[in-house]
Amino acid sequence: MNVSSHAFDTQNEVHCPFMPVFGPPSVMFERGEGTQLFDVNNKRYLDFLAGIAVVSLGHANPVIADAISAQAHRLVHVSNFFANPVATEAAIKINGLLREATGLAGQVFFTNSGAEANECALKLARRHGRRNVGGDGRYRVITALGSFHGRTLATLAATGQPAKHGPFAPMPDGFTSVPWGDLDALRAAIDPSVAAILIEPLQGEGGVVPAPEGYLQGVRELCDEAGILMMVDEIQTGFARTGTWFGFEHAGVSPDVVTLAKAMGNGMPIGACWARSDVADAFQPGDHGSTYSGTALATAAVVAVIDEMRRLDAPHLARTGGELIRTHFGAIPDVVSIRGAGLLLGIELAPGIAASDVVAAARDRGLILNAVTATALRCAPPLTVSEAEIIEAAHILTEAISAVRSAKGADQ
Ligand SMILES: Cc1ncc(COP(=O)(O)O)c(C=O)c1O
Repeated sequence: MNVSSHAFDTQNEVHCPFMPVFGPPSVMFERGEGTQLFDVNNKRYLDFLAGIAVVSLGHANPVIADAISAQAHRLVHVSNFFANPVATEAAIKINGLLREATGLAGQVFFTNSGAEANECALKLARRHGRRNVGGDGRYRVITALGSFHGRTLATLAATGQPAKHGPFAPMPDGFTSVPWGDLDALRAAIDPSVAAILIEPLQGEGGVVPAPEGYLQGVRELCDEAGILMMVDEIQTGFARTGTWFGFEHAGVSPDVVTLAKAMGNGMPIGACWARSDVADAFQPGDHGSTYSGTALATAAVVAVIDEMRRLDAPHLARTGGELIRTHFGAIPDVVSIRGAGLLLGIELAPGIAASDVVAAARDRGLILNAVTATALRCAPPLTVSEAEIIEAAHILTEAISAVRSAKGADQ
């Protein structure tokens, strides 16, 4: 059966045998190369979303593809009863990056996703709260309104978006969300039941909203005063996306726990929870686990990603690419502001222009973005994006916005 043609009906809508949680897909992509994607009809697109900040080294990156392929021929998985050299090397490299960023020695638990990385952090916070801070039963985790931490029940409860909780109530106990950027609200929420604060350094899903000046430093101080953990969710921001290896580096603070995923495998499903060694030591054998934690196959991608990102100086690529987008996209009529850091940018459109309409018009013209709020586009291309691709994307976006504006005028 030709799945590609079978999946399309005459309206060119894709019909896939998947649970209806994602809405109908509009395009079926068959292959990619760098910033480019090609659909089943061989139509070319520029991917300025990179699988939501995942494919940071570009699609079908030959270095990563070779590493995965070679590992697949050698060893894929052995279970956590045994060690494998690839996971060990990947953990050493992650510890190396985080030691450079924090000055601290740490330990790693590998997961298959971002949500599982946060799940590990949440369990670690409770374990640490009970064992290491006087055994006084600290378990509550404070997060920010507008945050996004995942879709498992615990990470959904941590996610500061009450509208997402409704259909799955009751939420697990032990989570409080306070307004983003408000240190007074955070201070007021800390009581003896609190084990940790979990925040993104820049809210991604919440609209690409950077932390206000001094916020992360204030969070660090509050955590130190209260003797609780500062846990930073770097799942979207980590691995150079914002122009530093980790988003918290912009604030010059050192968290106790850091969660990672997305770009660390360039598309291989893998995440990690890193914790300062004395914090990680709160876990005892049997406290946590996962069949697929640290498979040789997935961690081979991590080793290759870190080596390649170091070779390319990925943080520098993100900074220069981000500046180019600010220049070229900033000149587009109806783009009123650009926020974010590095190559994680929110493009705010003029009032009355719906971001979802622009996303559809851009997609039809061969540019992939997403609507991160009703009025803002998220722009997160591979860090390897070229200036020529940025200029081409700016032309497409100009046409897309103009088409949406004209259609709106015609409607009135
Ligand atoms: C900041 C943040 N945390 C957690 C997650 C959840 O990651 P996953 O979808 O891999 O479970 C995401 C996903 O977008 C994210 O952006």
